Amino acid sequence: MAHFETEAIHAERGLATRYGAVGVPIFQTSTFRLDHPGTDAEWVYARASNPTRAALETSLATLEGGAWAVAFASGMAATSAVGALLAPGDHIVATDDLYGGSFRLFRTLLGRHGVTVTFADTSSLDALSAALSDSTRLVFVETPSNPLLRLTPLHALCKVVHEHGALVCVDNTFATPYLQRPLELGADLVVHSTTKYLGGHSDLLGGAVVGSSPELHDQISLFQRGYGAVPGPLDCFLVLRGIKTLAVRLDRQCATTAALAAYLRARPEVAEVRYPGVEGTGSELGSELAGQMRAGGAMLSLRLCGGPAAAERFVSSLELFTLAMSLGGVESLCEVPARMTHAVLQDSECAVPEDLVRLSIGLEHEDDLIADVARALDLLGRA
Ligand SMILES: Cc1ncc(COP(=O)(O)O)c(C=O)c1O
Repeated sequence: MAHFETEAIHAERGLATRYGAVGVPIFQTSTFRLDHPGTDAEWVYARASNPTRAALETSLATLEGGAWAVAFASGMAATSAVGALLAPGDHIVATDDLYGGSFRLFRTLLGRHGVTVTFADTSSLDALSAALSDSTRLVFVETPSNPLLRLTPLHALCKVVHEHGALVCVDNTFATPYLQRPLELGADLVVHSTTKYLGGHSDLLGGAVVGSSPELHDQISLFQRGYGAVPGPLDCFLVLRGIKTLAVRLDRQCATTAALAAYLRARPEVAEVRYPGVEGTGSELGSELAGQMRAGGAMLSLRLCGGPAAAERFVSSLELFTLAMSLGGVESLCEVPARMTHAVLQDSECAVPEDLVRLSIGLEHEDDLIADVARALDLLGRA
């Protein structure tokens, strides 16, 4: 593989050259003309395959270091395809600090089909081992986790889980393959919400599953064709375009986020800053984890001394940060997970602190973002 930045531009090569196009064309068609009756042609019907989608899948497989990628209509459709690998009686262990939609899928939707789940702090191998049972077939990890940004040591975890005979799937949405490549650390599958950093501009929904095993590919691509939650060609094109600038975007976004984390830690109104690399948050990059991630990412969470009311006042006072669900775009966003992205967890053992604020740091200038946060904290101090 060439350097990440080079593959991000060229990994989909081949497809477009047939037409002389430098960019990948958007094949806006639902079906394809066949030379003879049958289903053996490369392009038959767009739910089964589409050249723009194939180009995206090639790019994602290359960047994650996998043998294949299968694209879906959303991150949840991709995670659902991984869940569909399980049969009644199977057990999942999942990170206890994870996206609310994944919690609902594992607990409620798969629960209806006889699949059980235990949520555990996968950053601790002891907690993980205690959660494994004879029927555990899948360990699903978010690292950094959403929204507490805890880190799980993937290499060590994969060893334990594989000895137990189960599969490891990592949701790599927060890190992206630019910062972390779970397949190289032993994971069997990676899922993405391409809606986030890979698209990068808050203008599409998409997802993907990436892996190396041919057997898993056959099953996941059957779910893609069979359940039909496929991304349209325009959305595939937009993800491909976003990927080309992922490395430069993230270099800047990670640097700004680290600066913002340092600023917030020095403010008396802030009780806790959670950002990979910040000591005392459970998100420290220890010697093993330092090799796992290239940088700490562009998400950070904080807790305010004034509790949930202060959290609400803080997000309402920010001007450059838009109060909105989602993350990973060029524009900075803020939210209160307990009331928004993670509301579905609040009556469960995975409830997140009600005073937690989550920030997604975009590409605005660092000084302007710090000034915005400083002003909102000053207002809190005066209240
Ligand atoms: C870590 C993580 N995984 C998966 C998803 C689901 O992605 P989508 O909204 O594209 O279905 C999200 C959405 O916020 C997320 O934050």
